[in-house]
Amino acid sequence: MPVTALLGAQWGDEGKGHIADRLAVQSSIVARYNGGDNAGHSITIGDRVVRTHLVPAGAFHPESICVLAAGMVINLRSLAREVDELDGYGAQLTPDRLKIDQAAQLLLPGHIALDGAGEDQLGAEAIGTTKRGIGPAYTDKMARVGVRAGVMTDAGRFAEAVRAHVERTNARLARDFNRAPLDAEAIVAEYSALAARFAPHVTDTMGLIHTALERGEHVLAEGAQGTLLDIDHGTYPYVTSSSTITGGVLTGLGVGPKHVRRVIGVTKAFCSRVGAGPFPTELKDEMGARLRGTGSNPWDEFGSTTGRPRRTGWLDLVALKYAARVNGLTELVLTKLDILTGISPLRVCIAYSNCDSPVTNFPSDVSELNQCAPIYSELSGWEEDITGVRRIDDLPLAARVYLLQIETFTGVKISHVSVGPERSQIFEV
Ligand code: IMP
Repeated sequence: MPVTALLGAQWGDEGKGHIADRLAVQSSIVARYNGGDNAGHSITIGDRVVRTHLVPAGAFHPESICVLAAGMVINLRSLAREVDELDGYGAQLTPDRLKIDQAAQLLLPGHIALDGAGEDQLGAEAIGTTKRGIGPAYTDKMARVGVRAGVMTDAGRFAEAVRAHVERTNARLARDFNRAPLDAEAIVAEYSALAARFAPHVTDTMGLIHTALERGEHVLAEGAQGTLLDIDHGTYPYVTSSSTITGGVLTGLGVGPKHVRRVIGVTKAFCSRVGAGPFPTELKDEMGARLRGTGSNPWDEFGSTTGRPRRTGWLDLVALKYAARVNGLTELVLTKLDILTGISPLRVCIAYSNCDSPVTNFPSDVSELNQCAPIYSELSGWEEDITGVRRIDDLPLAARVYLLQIETFTGVKISHVSVGPERSQIFEV
């Protein structure tokens, strides 16, 4: 059986948790392949909204093993908090169920300090990061000075590596930011205890995944953030520091392309973005506020990690087609269709104009993208409440035309539609 890749086709927050939770049922392994606790999945189970930041959605299916794969950067302090919370909901994330790859990078306090200091120094030019230390953790990985999870199994080496990390950070904090040093011994003590707790979870998850594939089992590769935040193919430099796309599944898990048969791109029925950077279809008016919601509902457009209000706008089909190409999407999952109920006409972006020239390919170069103005196609909306719909044929005609427009433009079939946050409110097309 193959690997299914599940990833965000926009700027993150597409509602991946919803479909991941559903697909996890069929998977013996659910593996997060990129990022760290900058991500936030919300899963609605009954009247509870459960948020995960590091642990993949398989946590709620006792049959699945949850893997934090080599492509991730893992903050052990956040992991401890999250595992305690999820265990409180009955997830039982014992070392048999939660596995950490030995090659995954540890995200340590120095990374968080450097992320905050760097953003403060950039001032108006800031990326708008989550300040979780993601960029500095990947910087250390690429500079080959990172601390890998495998070191947790050797207490002496681990303490030495963490001490060296703090010393390196302190030198940078003083030199580049004129900031006070971190307390090395306090960090070594706290993280040594965390390492002792999580060492039994550390293993070769690549081997585990290949054994499962050889046995004919199904593996779900769960992405964080979205295509347009990819370090290489996103709107650089307004991106995260990991590979969010299908390519990231291969390097993050350690599998070859022959294993990945199904690539599911999750897209909202409109667009949102948190942090700075170009967003051609952004609406700064009342319609943008309507799409965002007030924040009184868990599904309103406020960051699930930072609580920041998200920027919102019309669906950008030019960007979605780019995501289809760069990921080789084999299907789309359309979320939050219900949010568009009562809006008419609806608009979708079908091209950009750049100095009066039409642009139909998404330019990932930021200066070019900043000059692009969206060209819209208008579609009729619908008034009917669709939150109870469970079959495509029961959607109003205008909603089906909206879906058809997406499929025709991107050349990718929509396989699932969600019409509300509940587990039951997502149906197969
Ligand atoms: P970082 O990943 O914290 O370095 O932030 C880099 C950019 O990615 C910022 O614009 C963040 O707002 C954005 N970002 C990071 N994680 C997420 C996410 O899970 N959803 C949406 N945006 C994110």
